[in-house]
Amino acid sequence: MKPIDLLIRNARQLLTLRSDQKGPRAKECLEELGIIEDGAVVISDGKIVGVGRTQDVLKEFQVDSKTNVIDAKDKAVLPGFVDCHTHPVFAATREEEFDMRVRGKSYQEIAAAGGGIKSSVKALRSKSKRELTDFALPYLDRLLSYGTTTIEAKSGYGLSLEDEIKMLEVIQELNRLHPIDLVPTLLGAHEVPPEYKDRKSEYVDLIINEMIPEVAKRKLAVFCDIFCEKGVFDIDESRRILSAAKDHGFKLKLHADQLSALGGSKLAAELGATSADHLEFVDDQGIRMMKDAGVIGVLLPGASFGLGMKEYPPARKMIDQGLPVALATDFNPGSSFTESMPMIMSLSCLMMKMTPAETVVAATINSAHAVDKANEVGSIEKGKKADLVIWNVRNYKEIPYHYGVNMVDQVIKGGEVFTFPIPSGERDEGRRSRQRRG
Ligand code: NIG
Ligand code: FE
Repeated sequence: MKPIDLLIRNARQLLTLRSDQKGPRAKECLEELGIIEDGAVVISDGKIVGVGRTQDVLKEFQVDSKTNVIDAKDKAVLPGFVDCHTHPVFAATREEEFDMRVRGKSYQEIAAAGGGIKSSVKALRSKSKRELTDFALPYLDRLLSYGTTTIEAKSGYGLSLEDEIKMLEVIQELNRLHPIDLVPTLLGAHEVPPEYKDRKSEYVDLIINEMIPEVAKRKLAVFCDIFCEKGVFDIDESRRILSAAKDHGFKLKLHADQLSALGGSKLAAELGATSADHLEFVDDQGIRMMKDAGVIGVLLPGASFGLGMKEYPPARKMIDQGLPVALATDFNPGSSFTESMPMIMSLSCLMMKMTPAETVVAATINSAHAVDKANEVGSIEKGKKADLVIWNVRNYKEIPYHYGVNMVDQVIKGGEVFTFPIPSGERDEGRRSRQRRG
């Protein structure tokens, strides 16, 4: 019998996400949740060491006075979400643009008038690393409170060698300071900075000749991403930048076919990218090419919702054609200002007709594949990180069904327990003191 740090027992539904399928899941495997009823998880040294029915697990492991035991009776336990596409470092929010969009201005019109990504760049360049880190931390707290334990985090509001490196160093510092794991991505090609307005090709050269080599040398990013879009970076520019990144050992991602059918999805296939993200305007050929090349489709319905667009990625078509899909918030101050993966699951069910089971797989193990971390996170299996979430729901389907509210009870990150939003003891204490005052 081995001593253990933490035991979660009696979970009404334990969604292990275990499957014989090794790579990213597609078609019917997208609904394989590996549910154990009356389940238990055993954790030692931040890792999962046992998973099974409570009665079986209790035979194998010894609970002693040092073991923290959590009773998950009437609750569901899921892997922590992997939010595989976020822009969490910025200097200011952009609610005035939200107001303008509500009044009828489009995202592109606002950008052309100096708002959009450019306004975030202007704000970010004037801030120090310390200021940016302090600004980002509360957002990471909120991500964790909604059940997210790993995020991919992009630069892309610096757009100069110095400011992109500053952003990536902030991401590195956040990784050190905060329990959430951050997977860093260089997005130097997010927009053309104002000082290169009429000489875009020189900015492309700067990215290729200076930014990519320097970031590679300092090992500040794992992925390289690009905004491949009309009026931003076209297919040829995207191919040049991403090929250079690949030569320097970066794995690739693209913001593809978001606002028009430019063909970023096909370029992702051609270059063997890990994922192509957005895909609101992807066509059948793009879907087929991505599938054949093993590119994951990362769907960001929060961006369609946040921009008030009627187009959502054609998730049903992608799934039916066998493309593995993952979900992410696209958390950023412009197009998608939400930290909530449960909200993304609700939108995916209601606006893209994904089933609740498919949204769970897409938000956990498939998004772990989209950041190349599926051997560490994304499922509740022996040997993986103890990243899991206890939900105040009896059935996991309640998570997307009960939209716009937070049903998280406790988050376990690397074996450490976080209670959200208010520990029940404090809630009772608050109620009592209000009664006393009254
Ligand atoms: O993923 N599409 C480009 N980039 C972001 C938006 C960034 C911004 O508006 O600040 C996106 O939607
Ligand atoms: Fe994005």
